[in-house]
Amino acid sequence: MAARTGQPVVPFLIEALGLLEYRGYDSAGVSVRASSGLSATSHTTQRVDSLTAIFEPWPGSLLSGTGIGHTRWATHGAVNRVNAHPHLDCTGQISVVHNGIIENAAELRRDLESHGHVFTSDVDSEVICHLVEDGLIVEDDLAMALTAAAATLQGSWAVVVLDLETGRLAATAHRSPLVVAVVGDEVYAASDITAIGSRVVQFQALTDGDVVDLSGTPRWFRRGLPSAQPPLLQARAATASTGFAGFDDHMSKEIAEQPEVAARTIDALAPGVGDGSLWHGLVLPRFERVAVIGCGTSLNAGRVIASAFERLGGVPSTSFIASEAAETVIEPGTLMIALSQSGETADVLRAVDELDLSRSSLVAITNNEHSTLARRADSVLTCQAGPEIGVAATKTFVAQVVTGVATALSALVATGRMTPGEAARQVDDLKRLPDLLAHAIAVSSEALPPVVDSVLDEPGFLFLGRGSGIVFAAEGALKLKELSYRWAEHYPAGELKHGPLALIQEGTPVVVIDSGERRLESNIAEVEARGGRVIRIGGPGSTVPALGQSLTAPFPGAMDRWGPLESVVPLQMLARELAKALGHDVDKPRNLAKSVTVE
Ligand code: F6R
Repeated sequence: MAARTGQPVVPFLIEALGLLEYRGYDSAGVSVRASSGLSATSHTTQRVDSLTAIFEPWPGSLLSGTGIGHTRWATHGAVNRVNAHPHLDCTGQISVVHNGIIENAAELRRDLESHGHVFTSDVDSEVICHLVEDGLIVEDDLAMALTAAAATLQGSWAVVVLDLETGRLAATAHRSPLVVAVVGDEVYAASDITAIGSRVVQFQALTDGDVVDLSGTPRWFRRGLPSAQPPLLQARAATASTGFAGFDDHMSKEIAEQPEVAARTIDALAPGVGDGSLWHGLVLPRFERVAVIGCGTSLNAGRVIASAFERLGGVPSTSFIASEAAETVIEPGTLMIALSQSGETADVLRAVDELDLSRSSLVAITNNEHSTLARRADSVLTCQAGPEIGVAATKTFVAQVVTGVATALSALVATGRMTPGEAARQVDDLKRLPDLLAHAIAVSSEALPPVVDSVLDEPGFLFLGRGSGIVFAAEGALKLKELSYRWAEHYPAGELKHGPLALIQEGTPVVVIDSGERRLESNIAEVEARGGRVIRIGGPGSTVPALGQSLTAPFPGAMDRWGPLESVVPLQMLARELAKALGHDVDKPRNLAKSVTVE
């Protein structure tokens, strides 16, 4: 995050870093070079807000000028003030903030130390300020010194460098997002347009290898030579609300928004299902199979979508964990769908770069139309979820599933596998989802508190499902782990007797997604016979009867097509309420970040 402004820069940086805090919140820091020539750097291992107190005693003149700031998600080095960004070179002149990972940092550091550089942190990023320091000995131009430094790096980086003596500012990026914007005399740089969206109308995104001198009117370089400016992008709808709107936290607000998100998404996409116009300029190829790729919750959404292609149109489908996909052979005629709410997940970007997609088409489903993934895809379907601030994905999961199912319907119509009339009937069923989600919220709010009380001291949880319920069991276990810090695993219920049953003892909580599959009953009996505590998410008579409506007419077949989507609501709420009862911050679970821009 960086700004050069005639306004007080510290309050701006702190506000903008607050908007970026969801990307990492281990520590934070800012460096400021005031218009008066004074400079200072400060770090905290508290939340970004605490930097305000550090700067409070400063005279007003010190607060205006040029500044850079950072919120850290630790990769190399412990969480402490020394390892917080910005990092300074030996002289304290060059201040650097960096997102990404420098893979050859150890080697570079040895080399720099051997000719006299003294390091103060354990962080890979620190090599960058020492390299720039060396570069400035040869070439008194910050952008050129940064170009030389970047040429020696391996890995991924979005870097902003501030010269604390002169106020010069420069930026570069490789495999990590960075945008810049100019408003009159003011210049901004940020890893996410969200941070500056309220101040700018247009912005430009760096592509790999761009170096920008931000000291005056931005000057763009590639390989040390002046280069053309990239296109201006519109910052519309890129601002994030940081308020809770009467809820206790972002997560509960975002869970509550799910019926509205589903309705908005269906309304936006339904008209394009029948005529193929969902494809936004992509001439949909005659695809023979579908592959989805993503990480975490987005991968789970992708699995629901892949199975919808199979169940609705008989299209063979497969799913790939993005971080493991590089070696995969993609068969010709594959429609590849990459899912990422942020559109910046490094594992996904690396996979789409490395997979041979020359004989297939790449469709992105993302909640960020400005993201790197959106720019790389042949066609982009933007989710209508609105900003999601809680680190645990909730409403973006629902938006991804609904967007993906609408996409599947559109693709099946466009390739003659489904009639427009049948697609319209499916859309009518999709339109019932907002009510089903609202029902699930109401029912879960009543049913969950005693459940949470009864499992507070349990160290581990199992989540079971069959058929279309399995992926929801996976999503429930993921949410519970990340928020409550308790062990949670999911299994297809039939697998229980092949090993996991040994985990069950008196009181072990076993959450069952009861999508109406008859054979689940014997699996439940097996658990209860060993003293397990079954928490059934299903129809009437269940512990949480959140699926009551979708198990009965006139909506009997939904389970077969996109699974028991509304079951995600009690699963999210169970994880959140358990985490709250255990005293955890549900919006910022430990060790995690919202946008994971390292591999
Ligand atoms: C879990 C969660 C993560 C993300 C994953 C992918 O609640 O939020 O598992 O789903 O890190 O992130 P995106 O969707 O941004 O690619």
